[in-house]
Amino acid sequence: MATEIQIDERAREFVGRDRPMLIGGDWVNAASGKTFEVFNPATGQVLANVAEGDSEDIDRAVKTARAAFEDGPWATMKPAERGRIVHRIGDLILEHGDELAALETLDNGKPFAIARAADVPLAADNFHYMSGWATKMDGRSISPSVPYMPDAQWHAYTLREPIGVVGQIIPWNFPLLMAAWKLGPALTTGCTVVLKPAEQTPLSALRLAELILEAGVPEGVVNVVTGFGETAGAALVAHDDVNKVAFTGSTEVGKEIVKASAGNLKKLTLELGGKSPNVVYADADMETAIPGAANAIFFNHGQCCAAGSRLFVEYDHYDEVLEGVSEHAKNIKVGSGLDPDTEMGPLVSKEQQDRVQGFLDSGAEEGAKTTAGGKAREGDGYFVEPTVLSETGPEMKVECEEIFGPVVTVRPFKDASEVIPSGNETKFGLASGIWTSDIAKAHRTAKALRAGTVWINCYNVFDAALPFGGYKESGWGREMGSEVLNNYTEVKSVCAQI
Ligand code: NAI
Ligand code: MG
Repeated sequence: MATEIQIDERAREFVGRDRPMLIGGDWVNAASGKTFEVFNPATGQVLANVAEGDSEDIDRAVKTARAAFEDGPWATMKPAERGRIVHRIGDLILEHGDELAALETLDNGKPFAIARAADVPLAADNFHYMSGWATKMDGRSISPSVPYMPDAQWHAYTLREPIGVVGQIIPWNFPLLMAAWKLGPALTTGCTVVLKPAEQTPLSALRLAELILEAGVPEGVVNVVTGFGETAGAALVAHDDVNKVAFTGSTEVGKEIVKASAGNLKKLTLELGGKSPNVVYADADMETAIPGAANAIFFNHGQCCAAGSRLFVEYDHYDEVLEGVSEHAKNIKVGSGLDPDTEMGPLVSKEQQDRVQGFLDSGAEEGAKTTAGGKAREGDGYFVEPTVLSETGPEMKVECEEIFGPVVTVRPFKDASEVIPSGNETKFGLASGIWTSDIAKAHRTAKALRAGTVWINCYNVFDAALPFGGYKESGWGREMGSEVLNNYTEVKSVCAQI
């Protein structure tokens, strides 16, 4: 192993202490006094003890967010000033890039170089992009005809208003970036927030909250309650004074949230699982398609809702692509995210490692052939070998269920008329990929795939300007782009007789 990357001093200090949560402007312990342990997935050792929030803490945080929404300076602040503050959050993320990337590596396991090159700048860019919308939340002027009042004159317009107090629940695969995706649009539209990070990875959101206060966001606008899903998360979803919940996580929990939110019919957006098809046509440039297909699944250790986990290859090139992706998998350097040579770190938790191992066992039982990897690594840390499975079919668990680990299935196909229904043969519809040099075929296939994102001759390309979200059981609503703003605003029609 090469010499470990020096952990940023501030990150080292941040993990070395008990971490309280943020309610109002105060860093507080849980009402119960309880804490929970957060682990370094590369070693299995405890990184920090974090306040274990529950329904009482959620209630306090929601009341604080309500007061900040109704009466605080946030409510009356000029949009330009709000936009400047949101922009400053992005600046502070960049200024603290090494520190935040180190926290991601320690808490989530991902390689430092990747957190530094992708997670941190993408998080900053999301705040920068969203900040511009603060001054552009316009309504429209409308000319009603009102057929039953033919002689009347009207002046009518719409207002776009912040939806209110928002509950945001995020997962562990991109802890900082998911916080940014959620907070950026909420803040730029003038909402107030109670954010619950994943229990596996709460650290970067807590550090981000400090930066948010430093940027000038008034106290009470952003509250961060750390704790478990079944307790703190569930209390936030059920709370009667929350106007909207934005959730990213499993489809299973997404369905529970739909039911649990019914009490006050709060608005919901859900960004859930995926089982995305990645289609390599025979006329693709194989020099880019093969590494592209490998990265589509192995990026972030396969812990991506958009992962290209079902690879389809046209018959003529099937052997070449299967072999190429398998070689790629075997050559990936798996290790601690602090080793500069590491290309893939551990999975986030023992639970996730066991889950993925369960899928590998089921694949083997159902007759899948393993051409690379195939098992969890023995010893410390939650490592799983990058794995390529062939001879799979749509009825097998490894092809139907989201694995959320470094496991891809590879299947041959005859032509577009065969691969399009196969690609769509899933309850999910989050993302998809197409590799071809035929521009017409690329766009015809893009139109036919039932997925919220289609990447052509690329994969895992994310940008604050590109809306992202799912068809079918992959979710409700879109994040990023201008589309996300609809989730955080209500439209009010104002109609005057003049
Ligand atoms: P999860 O859906 O249980 O957790 C995601 C977030 O939801 C966490 O913050 C958790 O505390 C919270 N949560 C859990 N139960 C809740 C409830 N009843 N009410 C409110 N909030 C709740 O996901 P988990 O258990 O960490 O991972 C299981 C599987 O879910 C993964 O293997 C993967 O397939 C999928 N997943 C998908 C993600 C995505 O980005 N689409 C992200 C994380 C997990
Ligand atoms: Mg769960």
